[in-house]
Amino acid sequence: MSMLDQRLLQDLEKVVGEAGLVRDEQRLQSYLSDWRNAYRGKAALVVRPASTEQVAAVVRLCSAAGVALVPQGGNTGLCGGSIPDGSGTQVVLSLTRMTQIRDVDAGNETITVEAGVLLQRLQEAAAEAGRLFPLSLGAEGSCTVGGNLATNAGGTAVLRYGNMRDLVLGLEVVLPDGRIWNGLRGLRKDNTGYDLKHLFVGSEGTLGIITAAVLKLYPAVRSRTTAWVALPSPQAAVDLIGRMRALCGDRLTGFELMSRQSVEFVLRHVAGCSELFAEPHPWYVLIELSDTLVDAPLAEMLESGLGEAFEQGEALDAVVASSEAQVAALWKLREGISEAQNHEGPSLKHDISVPVSRIPAFIAQADARLQQAFPGVRIVAYGHVGDGNLHYNISKPLGSEDAPFKAQAEAIMQLIYDVTAAFAGSISAEHGLGQAKREAARRYKDPLELELMRTLKNALDPAGLMNPGKLL
Ligand code: FAD
Ligand code: MLT
Ligand code: ZN
Repeated sequence: MSMLDQRLLQDLEKVVGEAGLVRDEQRLQSYLSDWRNAYRGKAALVVRPASTEQVAAVVRLCSAAGVALVPQGGNTGLCGGSIPDGSGTQVVLSLTRMTQIRDVDAGNETITVEAGVLLQRLQEAAAEAGRLFPLSLGAEGSCTVGGNLATNAGGTAVLRYGNMRDLVLGLEVVLPDGRIWNGLRGLRKDNTGYDLKHLFVGSEGTLGIITAAVLKLYPAVRSRTTAWVALPSPQAAVDLIGRMRALCGDRLTGFELMSRQSVEFVLRHVAGCSELFAEPHPWYVLIELSDTLVDAPLAEMLESGLGEAFEQGEALDAVVASSEAQVAALWKLREGISEAQNHEGPSLKHDISVPVSRIPAFIAQADARLQQAFPGVRIVAYGHVGDGNLHYNISKPLGSEDAPFKAQAEAIMQLIYDVTAAFAGSISAEHGLGQAKREAARRYKDPLELELMRTLKNALDPAGLMNPGKLL
């Protein structure tokens, strides 16, 4: 606090009122570290504006004073993007008071919401309008629309509906100089030059503050079938997804891969989860089919696809949920992995992507090289296999101390990214770069792409006050 000019503090208080400032040391803490406690920073202050005009005024004041801003939504990000640095001079700008659903335009199939609206609240608002907002991820009860846009979030329904970038039609953004760009258009076609909204999607708070968005709605889902299938190998998963896609088309809305190690962690640490088969299997997939028809023949389609898969040796065993409670239990077994892995000590999180067809070879090569270079590390591989996106996470060897594992973290990450690069993949498919992968991006991203990104950053934020130290 002492690091912040008293005059600036008073001016900020005039804009947002006492309710819009967090200064108390204890209350500050939840804004200064992430949920895994993997990143920790300091901040002079947290400012919580309640309107776009207040955000603009805060940005203007901080810009004039040369104070850097760290935008923050639900603080569920996994790469330290919303955490300030250790200097104590940065101000966290939290969007969590901007929670208005501004408009639902049923005829246009759009919803206009403010950045601080929780993803789950957005899904509920869509359901109240008889529609679906399809983005879905484990943190949906705590993450915000602004954070989803700023990270271009993915999740479990991307294979049918795309990621956040595919779901946005318009944005309202406060630029680094405090001007408000009103790009809240609900147009599906607009070819009047550069599509500026896409500059801000995935920009991780480095180009401006997203304050509101026009998002696409889809027809409500009225029937659903969910199954948990045991498989012999990742290749079987790739074969099975091809088979299910050919059979079900767009009705295939979820296809998540889990290694036995991932499931064992959940069984060990997440209450209410239990083993589904009599014996363990090396891999599992969670398959979800859904349709807008009430009585779509999803069970028959699933049965037919699985029947062929059993014949071909792609599937070893299967459980089909027969109640909403069982559906929830299957998803819990999948979504519990993040939490479960936390209980096993320090971990390295990855969200790499490779072409779907190359997932089996990626896993084989990465597994072999890791076990040779770092014997005993536990590979927790799972994720959105239909998007080619694997959470190829690593936990320390069983029973070992934290320190030696932490000392190897950089080398482990580099090995995984080297294999990813060899498969023409990306080091971040959905979580973003934040502070965790900023350095790595310099090694693995095309220098020309990095140069173009810096050009854009300098054009919009010449003083470098928007989330410095992140992404670039
Ligand atoms: P924050 O964590 O607060 O911020 C994330 C980044 O966005 C930061 O760089 C921040 O500066 C910036 N930012 C936030 N709000 C704004 C704004 N209004 N304007 C400009 N910049 C802003 N992610 C996935 O993609 N797929 C998953 O399947 C997935 N599963 C998860 C499961 C769990 C259990 C957890 C804890 C996280 C998961 N995540 C997943 C990561 C995370 O939930 C997403 O990245 C989410 O989009 C972040 O939203 P947030 O509101 O918490 O953003
Ligand atoms: C998930 O899909 O569960 C998250 O994106 C991965 C993670 O928590 O590492
Ligand atoms: Zn994920």
